Amino acid sequence: MDSTCSQLTEVTAFAPATIANLGTGFDLIGLAIEGPGDTVCVRRVDTPGVLISKIEGDKQALPLHPEKNTAGVAALAFLKEYPIEKGVQLEIKKNMPLCSGLGSSSASAVATVKALNTLMGNPFSNEKLLEFAREGERIASGAAHLDNVAPSLLGGITYIENEYPIRIQSLPFPDDLYFAVITPSIEIHTGEARKILPKEVPLNKVIEHSRNVANMLLGFLQKDLEKLKSTFVDCYIQTHRTRLIPFYDEVIKQALCEGALGAGISGSGPSLFAACISEKKAKDIVLKMAHTFQENQQEVRYFTSPVNSQGAMIIKST
Ligand code: HSE
Repeated sequence: MDSTCSQLTEVTAFAPATIANLGTGFDLIGLAIEGPGDTVCVRRVDTPGVLISKIEGDKQALPLHPEKNTAGVAALAFLKEYPIEKGVQLEIKKNMPLCSGLGSSSASAVATVKALNTLMGNPFSNEKLLEFAREGERIASGAAHLDNVAPSLLGGITYIENEYPIRIQSLPFPDDLYFAVITPSIEIHTGEARKILPKEVPLNKVIEHSRNVANMLLGFLQKDLEKLKSTFVDCYIQTHRTRLIPFYDEVIKQALCEGALGAGISGSGPSLFAACISEKKAKDIVLKMAHTFQENQQEVRYFTSPVNSQGAMIIKST
């Protein structure tokens, strides 16, 4: 098979950062945010296969070898199902800290498959693109979880209804929902943060967790902020990770005291989020959350964001 229908030679796509889990929705729920994200330029070249020619913004931490790089693996998965005679070259621009809990590996994988699909004349559906992108997650963290790649590609708040085959539901959300996000200057590898999770969960915790997830879905579907409020609490999974993040209890308590709807670890951390009912509230709360780190002379980045409804987008094609 070769792409005869597309005359394009080069496509650049952007894919946004994401907040996965939202506390209780471990591996199930995630959302896209505005601001940070990765840009990938995919170019047709004569050399067969996938070549990563350049990565910017990673402080030389990421491998150029396509089989070891999340974007490279996603591109290889795409081309396995859509073989071409020649090859493609990738240029990756990272615009978020690595291992920060904001879906850095998924943003690169998603931008890659989005750009590739456009370059080849859109042969694949979004579900298929997610299949390819999750292979990038598998190489990055050892688990092909979808709760970062789905919102990064599709935008909004997404619920992973089914993994094999992939079915994603986009959840409605209140217009003024805003997020405060802080990123301490430590790195947490998702693979490591998954290894510390218990393999078995007591029955009473399963029931509590199921109720939280169900209530979170109801809260979004009914746009009921009161119902959403209690659901960001994760009763069993996140609790095993909090020890990896300095000042976790203090910062979360502060966000809740200041009126956040809920707060917790973004993905596998170390970023922390607080869900807020307005932009103003988010701006006030993010300063308070960051202050705890600053008064302890610890570096922290912070920003606020609405939910990014658009998801990945093509920014240039020639
Ligand atoms: N659901 C994944 C985890 C998200 O928590 O391990 C990682 O960003």
